[in-house]
Amino acid sequence: MKQTTDFLKMKERNEKIVMLTAYDYPSAKQAEQGGVDVILVGDSLGMVVLGYDSTIPVTLEDMIHHTKAVKRGAKDTFIVADMPFLTYHLSVKDTLQNAGRLIQETGAHAVKLEGADEVIEKITALTKAGIPVCAHLGLTPQSVGVLGGYKVQGKDALAAKKLLKDAKKCEEAGSFAVVLECVPKQLAEEVAKSVSIPVIGIGAGVAVDGQVLVYHDILGYGVERVPKFVKQYHSVNPFMIESIQAFTDDVRTGQFPEEKHTFTMKEQELKVLYG
Ligand code: KIV
Ligand code: NA
Repeated sequence: MKQTTDFLKMKERNEKIVMLTAYDYPSAKQAEQGGVDVILVGDSLGMVVLGYDSTIPVTLEDMIHHTKAVKRGAKDTFIVADMPFLTYHLSVKDTLQNAGRLIQETGAHAVKLEGADEVIEKITALTKAGIPVCAHLGLTPQSVGVLGGYKVQGKDALAAKKLLKDAKKCEEAGSFAVVLECVPKQLAEEVAKSVSIPVIGIGAGVAVDGQVLVYHDILGYGVERVPKFVKQYHSVNPFMIESIQAFTDDVRTGQFPEEKHTFTMKEQELKVLYG
């Protein structure tokens, strides 16, 4: 299993880091079998698994529940779990308690927090307490209300400058990596060059140290539309729906179950039973 220090070495050696989300036992097992370096139990689970229209309703209990299942499916992969909305903003003490539970109760290896500013002191405290932190900058979905939608961030020079500073601060606070979401490729490249910790991009172009995407997006599983930055490798949805339709038809027409799906009682037992 790769660890935080390995990710730093990978950046030095110019080896790309592969991160994929997973939310339960089968997806985690598949991610591990598929050979990803890091599994992210993203709070995107609120949208792709639980059907909310943002990540805001996701609770710490939700994250713990799903991260436990992921851990059972991927015992040999580095697991990062998202800290959900408002679980790392009230105080350093609350943040430590919440992150502590997320790590201790699930077996995840690290947590991810969105933003800089007031979050920086939390990153420092968590790292000092022995909890590895992945930062998350650019488009930070838990702030969708403030950002006014899911839009590309850091497009103008001023915002770009702030983002570069924030990335530096995250590094100084002790983050072992930073996820950079939805920013122009030129800015992403500059961020990756200006920090020594790996920058894992999502909608941030190719000139960063790794890439992360959402499990359901790359597989076309239960998602209707995917963002521009997603590469969809398959669309498993139709296969799944067809399978369910075939089962439905089979039951209704009596074509299922067949003999091979059926248990039988021995003749002599039947004689005893009916005489
Ligand atoms: O929740 C999530 O899946 C994420 C990734 C998209 C980076 O935070
Ligand atoms: Na997230």
